[in-house]
Amino acid sequence: MYRQLYDWFRRAIIAGQLRPGQRVPSTRSLAAELKISRIPVLNAYEQLLAEGYLETFVGAGTCVASSIPDDTLNPAARKALKGSPEVAGKLGPRRISYRGVAMTQLPVQSWLNIVGPFRASLPALDHFPIAVWSKLVARHSRKPARGIMGYGDAMGYRPLREAIAEYLGTVRAVRCNASQIMVTTGSQQGLQLSAQVLLDPKDRVWIEEPGYPSARQAFIAAGAHLVPVPVDDEGMKVREMIRRGHSARAVYITPSHQYPLGMTMSATRRMLLLNWAVRTGAWIIEDDYDSEYRFGSRPIASLQGLDTDARVIYVGTFSKVMFPALRVGYVVVPKDLLPAFSAARDAADVFSATLYQAVLTDFIREGHFARHIRRMRMLYMERRKELVKAIRIEMGDMLEVTGAEAGMHLAALLPPGINDVAVSKRAAQRGISATPLSTCYLRPPARSGLILGYAGANALQIHDGVRKLRMSV
Ligand SMILES: Cc1ncc(COP(=O)(O)O)c(C=O)c1O
Repeated sequence: MYRQLYDWFRRAIIAGQLRPGQRVPSTRSLAAELKISRIPVLNAYEQLLAEGYLETFVGAGTCVASSIPDDTLNPAARKALKGSPEVAGKLGPRRISYRGVAMTQLPVQSWLNIVGPFRASLPALDHFPIAVWSKLVARHSRKPARGIMGYGDAMGYRPLREAIAEYLGTVRAVRCNASQIMVTTGSQQGLQLSAQVLLDPKDRVWIEEPGYPSARQAFIAAGAHLVPVPVDDEGMKVREMIRRGHSARAVYITPSHQYPLGMTMSATRRMLLLNWAVRTGAWIIEDDYDSEYRFGSRPIASLQGLDTDARVIYVGTFSKVMFPALRVGYVVVPKDLLPAFSAARDAADVFSATLYQAVLTDFIREGHFARHIRRMRMLYMERRKELVKAIRIEMGDMLEVTGAEAGMHLAALLPPGINDVAVSKRAAQRGISATPLSTCYLRPPARSGLILGYAGANALQIHDGVRKLRMSV
């Protein structure tokens, strides 16, 4: 009742029905008139007085504030305030920043927001050891240490940073110590912070063509100028760019498992890229997003591990090895850049939620993490085989599988002339989430195709999914 009264008076004042200086009824008489208790009326008046809509004068009672600005009372403002805020937007497009406009240019694939088979990047959620995880969450939330509830370090929870540094050193041949690890809310934030710290507007950034669309988004948000560099079996065609004298302030690269085509960057190209970066003072942003899953051979060592000049910013994530909604990733920051990265993080969102960092630390330290990865590696290897088999049986004449035996997705090329966006939309109507390959290109692609995630689907779903995919081509 108090809220209704408050709203009514506020609207009446803004709409000009009650004029500045006009007396409003006393609380007693209004309560009597409305046949309600005086308390809601008193509360509403008190709120309106506190917000400056009403004022009181000894002897004169309560009046509409005389200081309500005139422009609040003009007809357009009155009209706009009567309805919901959207009404004001109908006056026409309003000016936003160039970056804001640029960010909306990327294709939105809302039809892919279904949890059907082949969703790229989705792990096998039903195989996650949720009982263990819940126990650890309970352990930390039942009796939280002071440090878990207060403000934390912009770089992250120290024990987790130590666990990550140790893991990266042994498994990914990354050379770093714990002080260089920044815990982020996923790779995306790692890319965004890197772009913010390293790039000025209009700086050129080489990106893989085709490449990871969300990385494009992070660089566009920093005002960068994207330069697509084609990839072949050995990864990004670095030599061509250097020979043609193309310069760049930074390069974004997925050397261990190229996204989306899946090849591994050759040692020669890695050396070439590192030498070029040292010579020209460019930064290399290495996105190592799913290297834990390599089926035929041992995981490929990181590019960062070969870097002797600290030009590589190494970005990683727990989205694939744990689950995406955890929103935990990390950046390995060269030592001289630590103050800038830390300040950028402080400005962005201060630091990552400490509770899940503490839980994840225990999950790693107690061996659950390594065990989970080992299990998922076996499972994903089986699922990949199953998908390749299903494609061969059902769509051998239509899809050409590319990429190394690694990761959680594969790319499959469609026959020339077939529109992959149309196929993807038709597949979505059948409950299948197949990302169109063309959306990974900055320039119009020569071939279209589909990116098919296999980690989140079992054998039955894979075979059924491929059949549905066939019907969608
Ligand atoms: C190339 C690449 N990098 C990073 C990520 C993970 O992003 P995030 O850690 O922000 O969930 C993905 C997931 O789709 C990816 O495909």
